[in-house]
Amino acid sequence: MTEDLQIDTHLNKVEKYKQLLSQVKALLADEDDLIAKQANFCAALKYGFDFFWVGFYKVSGDELVLGPFQGPIACTRILKGKGVCGTAWEEENIIIVPDVDLYPGHISCSSLSRSEIVIPVFDLSGNVALILDIDETEVNAFDEIDKKYLELLVRLIF
Ligand code: SME
Repeated sequence: MTEDLQIDTHLNKVEKYKQLLSQVKALLADEDDLIAKQANFCAALKYGFDFFWVGFYKVSGDELVLGPFQGPIACTRILKGKGVCGTAWEEENIIIVPDVDLYPGHISCSSLSRSEIVIPVFDLSGNVALILDIDETEVNAFDEIDKKYLELLVRLIF
């Protein structure tokens, strides 16, 4: 395993995602433990993009439970259909929130979080098993480029 990721932080977003994709693929390839993979996945995204918060929630019954993450402490449980994460799970769709203050029902774990993107992660049976949540301190931090590459990246988890 490589000791560190080689991400050129001066590159544009697309190029950084491309560098991350190939390196995260290699990083996760030899590991089958789901927690270990999620933990390194979060560290890689934090390292590459310096997101404010990046982490996973695990589907458990009718709620989401906090999993591996990088960033400040966060809410530990979210009911299905609640907040951005619970809605992305219920609708099985990626949600981009340009301004959390304008999203009805947004669950605020930190007052510093201003925009976010939430990506459902499907297991090999096609069920949503995890939710990836990324928060930033600026409004409008996420766009279709993030959506495209994060969707590709989460496919490396299962
Ligand atoms: N923003 C989420 C809550 C989780 S934290 O941001 C880490 C939501 O409304 O689902």
